[in-house]
Amino acid sequence: MSISRRSFLSASVLTAASATLPTPAIFGAEKNKKYQVALVGTGGMGNANLGAAISTKTVETVALVDVDRGRRELSFESVKKSTGLEAKLFNDHREMLEEVKPEIVIVATPEHWHPLITIDACKAGAHVYVEKPVSHTINEGIAMVKTARETGRTIQVGTHRRCSPAGIAAKKYIKEGNIGQIGMVRAFVHYTAWGGKDVPTPDTPTPEGLDWDRWCGPAPLIPFNSKIHPGGFRQFLNYGTGQLGDWGTHWMDMILWVMDDQEQYPSTVSSTGGRFIWRDNTDAPDTQSALYKFDKYMVEWEHRCYAGNAPEKENIGVYFYGTKGTVHIGDGNWSVFKSQDKNANPETPDTPKNEGNLQVSWRNFIESIENGQKPICDIEYGHRATTMTLLGMLALKLGRNVRWDGEKQTIPNDPEAVKLMSREYRAPWKYPS
Ligand SMILES: NC(=O)c1ccc[n+]([C@@H]2O[C@H](COP(=O)([O-])OP(=O)(O)OC[C@H]3O[C@@H](n4cnc5c(N)ncnc54)[C@H](O)[C@@H]3O)[C@@H](O)[C@H]2O)c1
Repeated sequence: MSISRRSFLSASVLTAASATLPTPAIFGAEKNKKYQVALVGTGGMGNANLGAAISTKTVETVALVDVDRGRRELSFESVKKSTGLEAKLFNDHREMLEEVKPEIVIVATPEHWHPLITIDACKAGAHVYVEKPVSHTINEGIAMVKTARETGRTIQVGTHRRCSPAGIAAKKYIKEGNIGQIGMVRAFVHYTAWGGKDVPTPDTPTPEGLDWDRWCGPAPLIPFNSKIHPGGFRQFLNYGTGQLGDWGTHWMDMILWVMDDQEQYPSTVSSTGGRFIWRDNTDAPDTQSALYKFDKYMVEWEHRCYAGNAPEKENIGVYFYGTKGTVHIGDGNWSVFKSQDKNANPETPDTPKNEGNLQVSWRNFIESIENGQKPICDIEYGHRATTMTLLGMLALKLGRNVRWDGEKQTIPNDPEAVKLMSREYRAPWKYPS
């Protein structure tokens, strides 16, 4: 994936469907204030976030950190071209925090690095915009929430669909009771994603300029493979969390957000799946279902990473099944089935536009820093959504149901499962407590 102006522009792709959060009353309280921002992880989503942040005219880019020299240098050129600023370049986020002391840090590395960098940044005094899924294991997420609260730092998560016009309008429609009582919610993603039927990609010497040891960081150090970096880590379970962690975090967050008047934790989780089609060297399931039992409703997840979903017309999104109708929320669109008749056609309501989900999320982040209120995609919500996906991955690995005590954030009376809420870190990195 090439970084360059294209990646900056990709922010507007993500934001094409736009919605309206109310204009923050306090936004611009410090009218000409520009927050000194550092980006850690100058890949596709890092640059998209930085582009969105810059477009809100509230930040000044002071540092770019990546373990891949080529990528941080490309990002440097893009920032210089779009803002005239020459950001300082780093390979090590700790050196950057020490030397630059940024006010905001964007964490857009693969997820095995999110917890440590986020926690280091908060402890160094910075507010953080961290990408989803927030963590690779559940206890890391718990430590991130704790750190945010202890340091008083604001952490916004990249679950920007909460800012989408489709999400906002659909949530309002459901809350008004238009589809009655909801007993089942089904989230799904059916499309090709990073893996494939092809033969395994061979390991190769590490490319010039890439600090592979640091890229692997707290996770196992294995030989370099071009299928993993850039981007492909998602389907390698040492670093990513599969399609459920990658895409599922967005939809689990959407579900918990829409159902925010219901309980926010499942009590039981089960999952099954496998690698039925993929023959390459990825190791995540290409096919998976997960079931979550809540007190008053249930959630289903399903993905197939190799095909679309022609019979249902929608490849991606969430169905909220109510007693009076069904709502589908997709990637920037939503629709309503007003009757239960099998021949009913979906209606697609008019939805207002916004300046872009990422831009809205960034404005809300800055507003929250200024007024001390929880941002719309606060770390606690991001952690809850991530936990849903990680519980699904954990149940798949164990091959059996797991119970979940959301209040205590533990798996009761199940030491084997509790062990999977953490992972061993490779020295010298220390698992956050
Ligand atoms: N919110 C969204 O809509 C959305 C969309 C895409 C990706 N993402 C998330 O963004 C994150 C990054 O994904 P991507 O597609 O941009 O991947 P990417 O591979 O394009 O970029 C990740 C970058 O992080 C760098 N990196 C790795 N370890 C590092 C370290 N210790 N310090 C500094 N840099 C390091 C890599 O070299 C790479 O350049 C993932 O967590 C992904 O799930 C979110």
